[in-house]
Amino acid sequence: MHVLVTGGAGFIGSHSVEQLLEAKIPVRILDNFSSGTRDNLPKHAQLEIQEGDIRDQTAVHKAMKDITHVLHLAAQVSVQASVENPPESCSTNIGGFVNVLQASRVNRVQRMVYASSAAVYGRPAQLPLSEKVMAQPCSPYGLEKYVNDQYAALFATEFEVSLLGLRYFNVYGPRQDPQSPYAGVISKFISMIEQHLPLSVFGDGAQTRDFIFVKDIAKANVQALQSDMGGVCNVATGKIHSLLELIDILSRCANQSVEVVHQAVREGDIPFSETEITRLQSLMPTDGFTDLSTGLTALLQYTANPDN
Ligand code: UD1
Repeated sequence: MHVLVTGGAGFIGSHSVEQLLEAKIPVRILDNFSSGTRDNLPKHAQLEIQEGDIRDQTAVHKAMKDITHVLHLAAQVSVQASVENPPESCSTNIGGFVNVLQASRVNRVQRMVYASSAAVYGRPAQLPLSEKVMAQPCSPYGLEKYVNDQYAALFATEFEVSLLGLRYFNVYGPRQDPQSPYAGVISKFISMIEQHLPLSVFGDGAQTRDFIFVKDIAKANVQALQSDMGGVCNVATGKIHSLLELIDILSRCANQSVEVVHQAVREGDIPFSETEITRLQSLMPTDGFTDLSTGLTALLQYTANPDN
């Protein structure tokens, strides 16, 4: 295998690159370093870095040289930014995606796995969220990822490209920037705890989410590259936690009491999420996934000392 990871310097990308290299698989990354950084990446003889943008067809075709498998993670990752500037978001998340897809096709790569998102489900009519639940995206970002899934289905059926879209749920872990508009609630709360500031809870805190540790996401990526599963697959733990439960666990892991301030419900917030992961379980064992308190402890340690 020789894997191209687009967005390899980013939050999910860099953890995936690490695990591929640990498995002795040579990696090339294509990244424009708009949000990812070189500091996220290890120095490794089997790692090649190409700076470039997925919107640039020439750069994408160059990056495909001698590549057998593609892990496509490069994206405009902020839901908020997609709401504010849909054309800009679309140019990367649809235009860039189609560039990578087409380059995978013409270079006859054996397999392409790409980042879809739970945002595709939007405000769903039913729970739990299995892959069969109808997509009802409620942001340009969610729609863009859904369009990716449809393009992938067409390229798989009509052009025989081996493809799988992974619908990640709420990802947390080291290297997620708490200042970023995409930063999830966990990295924000940890940053608040570090500064001994109260945590802002939007609403009553009863809302639920499936929080998954980034290293488990990376594991799923590596596994998916080596499988032949098609279509789309949820990537989540199958266990949900309310925000108040999360805060309770976080406070115990940090060994610190935390003050909570309730604020108005965030506009467009989804009250409950519940995941169905049967398909993921047919791809890989999920019982070894990091439980929330272990993941939070690891993240707290990392945040206190990022160089370790
Ligand atoms: C994610 C997206 C969001 C998108 C939604 C639907 C991220 C970071 N957010 O939201 O933009 O619309 O999927 O696909 O990916 N919360 C607080 N206090 C805070 C921050 C968050 O109480 O300081 C609450 C939120 O109101 C929410 C929960 O925590 O109920 C989780 O929030 P977040 O981490 O932003 O993820 P999603 O709501 O799943």
